[in-house]
Amino acid sequence: MMSGLRTKQKSRVDDIVEFGKTKLHTCTMLSLCNPPPYLRSRSTRATLIRRCRSYWTGLNVWRKNPINDNRSWGQTGPSPSLSPSPPFDLPSTPSSLAEWGALVLSTPDPVLKSHLSHMAFTSFISDSLPIGIASAPLRPARPSKPPLVEVREVPTQKESGLPLNAYMLHSLAHIELNAIDLAWDTVVRFSDLRSVLGDGFFADFARVADDESRHFGWCSQRLEELGFQYGDVASHDFLWKECARTSSDVAPRLAIVPLVQEARGIDAGPRLVKKISGFGDNRTAKIVSKIADEEVAHVGVGVYWFVQVCEKMNWTPRTAFRTILQEFGVEPKGPFNHAGRSLAGIPRDWYDPPHSSPPPPPQSFLSEVEYMLASIISLEKANIE
Ligand SMILES: [Fe+2]
Ligand SMILES: [Fe+2]
Repeated sequence: MMSGLRTKQKSRVDDIVEFGKTKLHTCTMLSLCNPPPYLRSRSTRATLIRRCRSYWTGLNVWRKNPINDNRSWGQTGPSPSLSPSPPFDLPSTPSSLAEWGALVLSTPDPVLKSHLSHMAFTSFISDSLPIGIASAPLRPARPSKPPLVEVREVPTQKESGLPLNAYMLHSLAHIELNAIDLAWDTVVRFSDLRSVLGDGFFADFARVADDESRHFGWCSQRLEELGFQYGDVASHDFLWKECARTSSDVAPRLAIVPLVQEARGIDAGPRLVKKISGFGDNRTAKIVSKIADEEVAHVGVGVYWFVQVCEKMNWTPRTAFRTILQEFGVEPKGPFNHAGRSLAGIPRDWYDPPHSSPPPPPQSFLSEVEYMLASIISLEKANIE
């Protein structure tokens, strides 16, 4: 098993890392600085790290963006929120970013989770809060609806009774809610690695969480405009399960969550927009298009930090990425949006080695829709079991 930068929050990890074929063990930081020999090829490592330096070009601008309060979707696009925040009582005001993250993770109500997520990021920036240290809950709190089922048990659009646009929007809202938790879990769970990773790592993922909370808000608002609400369709727990498998090691977390899960959004986003436009719902299509545009940042951040971790560990990024995917039984599946992935800074030979063969084409419109959704929400069934 490849050793990475591992968190010391072991007791919880031991409880939950039963999904994978390999149980992860926490090590001391010093012992982690001895990578396996196959990751040590210095000449190729230097070459590959140089090649990976073409990070997403918008990264520095994104990091300096002012706090984004456009949490509603107005007549033509994002606009400041007009609806009051949901009522809540803070048990105590968090005094660090990690404590805020733990609070968001332990909040079940999705609207409140989204709201607290923005409060957390705003407080972090405006009040210059420290990163701090906190414990991540065993799993994020979730509402009673939607029920969480196996991927194969998620109702099809026909079974759900929702029109295509609302069905897709509900799937996207579920992904965005998961994404809020995945980002905060990365902030909180690895907060004890701050001295190694640096404050920028946590600031970046807190900003990702803020983006995701805004995305959930737009999806949730639009669903209500269409006469539905988040929770109307049984959904899967796959994204969290994948995340939980990487809970003790930051390199697999970065490889699996931003570089595989989020990169899938880059692949599927343009097709989703096309389908929803074709369905005749241009307002929803604009929301999905805006979200897809903003997802590039999250993959770009993942690439940046994955390469940083590889440099610290003396690893070649591509070899490390491929090795991690192999160990976790994950293989990115096309069709790929190569241009979008390239923009986000993922070299093609990381996810699409020359021997890869393209997946079979969809057989019909319905199967294409299902295929498209599946490409966002899940890896192959085989990867789950
Ligand atoms: Fe998002
Ligand atoms: Fe994202």
